[in-house]
Amino acid sequence: MNQLPNELKTPAWLQLFQWISDPLGYLENNYQKYGDMFTARIVGLSPFVMVSHPQAIQEIFTTNAQKFDAGRTNGILTSFLGTESIAILDGSTHKRRRKLLMPPFHGERLQTYGQLICNISQKIASQWVQNKPFIMRQVMQDITLEVIIQAIFGLSEGERYQQLKPLLAEMLDSVSSPVRSSFLFLRFLQKDWGNWSPWGQMKRNREKIYDLLQAEIDRRRREGKLEGHDILTLMLLARDEMGNPMTDIELKDELMTLLFAGHETTATGLTWAFYWIHKLPEVKEKVLKEIEGCGDKEDPMKIAKLPYLTAVCQETLRIYPVAMLTFGRVAKSPVEIMGQQFATETMFAPCIYLTHHREDIYPNPKQFRPERFLEREYSPYEYLPFGGGTRLCIGYALAQLEMKLVLATILSNYHLELGDQKPIKPQRRGLTLAPGGGVKMMMTGKRIMKNSKVTELVGT
Ligand code: HEM
Repeated sequence: MNQLPNELKTPAWLQLFQWISDPLGYLENNYQKYGDMFTARIVGLSPFVMVSHPQAIQEIFTTNAQKFDAGRTNGILTSFLGTESIAILDGSTHKRRRKLLMPPFHGERLQTYGQLICNISQKIASQWVQNKPFIMRQVMQDITLEVIIQAIFGLSEGERYQQLKPLLAEMLDSVSSPVRSSFLFLRFLQKDWGNWSPWGQMKRNREKIYDLLQAEIDRRRREGKLEGHDILTLMLLARDEMGNPMTDIELKDELMTLLFAGHETTATGLTWAFYWIHKLPEVKEKVLKEIEGCGDKEDPMKIAKLPYLTAVCQETLRIYPVAMLTFGRVAKSPVEIMGQQFATETMFAPCIYLTHHREDIYPNPKQFRPERFLEREYSPYEYLPFGGGTRLCIGYALAQLEMKLVLATILSNYHLELGDQKPIKPQRRGLTLAPGGGVKMMMTGKRIMKNSKVTELVGT
């Protein structure tokens, strides 16, 4: 059996420091030195083989998919998501849970969220005050949180929604800075030293969120009216092949997972998209022209099919993928990857960022160029912002729909400018890669789109 390939010489504590404080530097330097496969040793984590060759990724996602576990590599997330979250499960339990959770995120169901997304974007953007700077990430978090809460609960102005919103936002903020995100990697920091300690506060918030979720589940059961189209109703009605419903703890852990996975990620993707569109005038011009030329701007599904807008979203998630890595994959038996033998228990981490920056697939990879997605098709092992195989992100279709509709709604109604012309650098935010500072922007006027002419009413 081969040794692990290209073990990094850097001490494990220094690798942890680099991975937290400068993740892209860490990835790029090691890729330069070692290429497609290298073994990271980071204090607090098991050693793992970072892979960024499409063939290796294909073998992990598809050819050998049944030979890997992924959920157990997310053990560190149980303090947020609970032990019953789909992200933590493996094997047949995971497969069954995916079957229960997938339907609300696909097909016709998805279309029902289209108008909801446009209305929420319109409502939140209408609160902008002209020429008053704001942080785009905060606005995008408001929009995506409201979308996911309404999609899950069908609630909007309810008291429970008002209570949930700040608690969730606070919980996400508790791991937002590079320093605070060390809590996610180092178990010994996960200690509850009372309300004043960050971990203690996070735990208290989580308990409050769980109480609110339980109250909502109890209310639905008590009222017995399970006829809405929201995700919670579908989850309450779902039965496995033995005819069993989900337990309360399963329901709460899944609700938490969807709230957690479903809004911060999409908000970050959207913030990057607004940044690129306003940083690059030619991109903005093309995207506006396309939206303007769209026959039926009121039909969300028509907007969702616009090719250039789609390419802008794809390129946004290529250049700085919100998730730098997919979940880890642990071999349950010996495996062969790209002709090399690996022992049972070897952990692999398909690296989305490095794959998306390969010169041989994406010439000039540091350049934001949506056209590359119009010129050729990429395989699911070359372009993988949502991971792949049996763990492909459940919300991938919702997230892409949401990105396009929020962008189209706001771009066609408002004239925006960046608050600062300096290039924005990506920065770790918890487990994600987000624009440093959240992107300061300003609404400088309202825009009215007419048949073939964009009229800007600056000063209205
Ligand atoms: C731009 C937005 C998003 C990005 C970039 C993203 C990315 C990812 C990635 C990389 C994974 C791991 C896949 C793997 O290991 O192969 C994942 C898993 C997951 N995502 Fe997303 N995601 C986004 C939005 C969403 C949304 C909107 C939801 C739900 C409402 C969601 C729910 C989930 C769930 C439940 C999993 C775990 C799937 C499983 O374990 O089987 N995500 N996501």
